[in-house]
Amino acid sequence: MRTTVGWQADPAPTLRRVPVERRALRPDDLAVRVDYCGVCHTDLHALDAHDGAAHTPLVPGHEFTGVVTETGSEVTRFAPGDPVAVGNIIDSCGECAMCRCGQENFCRAFPTLTYGGVDRHDGSTTLGGYSREYVVRDRFAHPLPPGLDPAAAAPLLCAGITVWEPLHALGAGPGVRVAVAGLGGLGHLAVKLAVALGAETWVVSRSPAKGDDARRLGAHGLLVSSDPDQMADARDRFDIVIDTISAPHDLAACLRLVAMDGTLSLLGHLGTVTLEVMDLLVGRKKLSSAGSGGRQATAAMLDFCAQHDITADIELLPSARVNEALDRLRRNDVRHRFVLDMSDLD
Ligand SMILES: NC(=O)c1ccc[n+]([C@@H]2O[C@H](COP(=O)([O-])OP(=O)(O)OC[C@H]3O[C@@H](n4cnc5c(N)ncnc54)[C@H](OP(=O)(O)O)[C@@H]3O)[C@@H](O)[C@H]2O)c1
Ligand SMILES: [Zn+2]
Ligand SMILES: [Zn+2]
Repeated sequence: MRTTVGWQADPAPTLRRVPVERRALRPDDLAVRVDYCGVCHTDLHALDAHDGAAHTPLVPGHEFTGVVTETGSEVTRFAPGDPVAVGNIIDSCGECAMCRCGQENFCRAFPTLTYGGVDRHDGSTTLGGYSREYVVRDRFAHPLPPGLDPAAAAPLLCAGITVWEPLHALGAGPGVRVAVAGLGGLGHLAVKLAVALGAETWVVSRSPAKGDDARRLGAHGLLVSSDPDQMADARDRFDIVIDTISAPHDLAACLRLVAMDGTLSLLGHLGTVTLEVMDLLVGRKKLSSAGSGGRQATAAMLDFCAQHDITADIELLPSARVNEALDRLRRNDVRHRFVLDMSDLD
């Protein structure tokens, strides 16, 4: 075993600085010095779910960048000193139909999550990137393209890929109208990516004050979700609605925005939803979802971001301020992603 330092909830909700054990390197493992880790709203959901739970350690963090410090004996893709990025899945069965077609994120045996997952070899609970070192199977580490700022690129590895896969799969591009509901971490990257793909892109938000942000990100404009006139005017207008809203909400309002044969992709709230089928029937609309991304898609997304100079808009904080970042994220007081600088853990 190797020992590093990280931020752990045990029990939640406050994270404390504790020693964190990492496994000794397997032949196909990398040790990564974690430099920057994004704060995803899923980390908040995980902390909330963990509160009061039996004593399983929870170290959140599943979008990080850093540098390879050591490689296992069979690793050929990476060498010490290489900049790398790791996202929210770190292993899969590698054999099922999904893995074979490059959709490791849909692995039939379920992909191993970066934290709160179960290691496929030793059965241990995975501990996330709010720590100074991570050990990861080389297949699930991605070379960080030169030119991408490592701090601002960290959120690409969860927020970015999560919105990239559905935008890509649903054909976002010139002549396609996209609406992004919720202008947070996922939402602002969805706007940047959809704009760079050439789609006419709008934001749907509770917060009229985010209008300037939306336009600065390249959106045509912002629809205020609480304004019935604006929402009525936008009826049937969008081929793709990317819904990143982090809380349960009225799907009917989002479906009314979808054009005939268009799709609502529900990415934010992953629980049970209530749906009136008539809201799909009228306009032959589709309801879909997505999560994370396969290895190929992640590499393609990183290349696209490097070509188009896309990274997250971040507020960088020393990792010791992680609890403040989580509190502010809970209050929707973030533009648009917190990233933790892990160097204070040395
Ligand atoms: N599918 C996946 O694999 C995947 C991956 C990562 C994250 N997620 C989930 O995606 C969601 C968004 O994550 P994030 O990191 O982007 O969160 P975030 O930065 O907090 O953004 C969420 C946005 O949702 C809107 N919102 C929040 N509460 C709302 C409410 N009660 N009603 C209406 N709108 C509300 C806000 O936008 P406005 O102020 O603009 O209205 C907020 O900025 C989370 O639930 C997260 O767990 C899913
Ligand atoms: Zn995430
Ligand atoms: Zn599989």
